[in-house]
Amino acid sequence: MTILKRVKNFLAPLPVVLVTTRLRDNDSIADNIIPISWTGIVESAPHMININISRGKYSWEIIKKTKQFGIAIPGAGYIREVDICGTTHGDTVDKFSLTGFEKIDASIIDAPLIKQCPINMECTLENIISFKSHDMFIGKIEATHLDDGFADEQGEPDFKKINILCYANGDYWDLGTKLEKLFFTKIKK
Ligand SMILES: Cc1cc2nc3c(=O)[nH]c(=O)nc-3n(C[C@H](O)[C@H](O)[C@H](O)COP(=O)(O)O)c2cc1C
Repeated sequence: MTILKRVKNFLAPLPVVLVTTRLRDNDSIADNIIPISWTGIVESAPHMININISRGKYSWEIIKKTKQFGIAIPGAGYIREVDICGTTHGDTVDKFSLTGFEKIDASIIDAPLIKQCPINMECTLENIISFKSHDMFIGKIEATHLDDGFADEQGEPDFKKINILCYANGDYWDLGTKLEKLFFTKIKK
């Protein structure tokens, strides 16, 4: 083992999620998508999720204003569309038209969900924690959508079918192989 000359963060893999927003301005509506990998679960009762966006980005401004956002989980097959969303900016392009991602209505929030994504979650902003370059937006999950075509017999997501897109240290990966059930080593009494 070598201690690197510079401290690096090799935490991997991270999921790639698509955060959706909607800005209403008089009669106009501007919808946007930002791919995020710095994201995580922070609470389960109620369910809460964090997304970290560098300060000043278009999506950062919108979430600050509207205090709500969608989180869509794409399959690895959408790598190209995801990358396009991550190299363009919502103040100058319509990323839905650019990628062909289709909008579906949310049930609670005022932001679009993404039809091609098997999982969509509707979030309302609970808190913001500021760091030097990034703001961590903590959202309460108000509703969870699962595409029936990607559900198993128990109604849970079938991650083999979904094959989520992942990010590791500058590269895209897919989910890989399922190994075992959680807590499979627990001894039964
Ligand atoms: C796979 C991937 C992961 C990314 N993760 C983050 C992230 O966690 N936080 C962030 O601020 N930007 C992240 N980005 C960069 C933004 O998606 C990018 O700056 C985007 O163009 C901003 O869109 P907007 O200007 O419409 O808000 C990521 C991009 C990609 C492709």
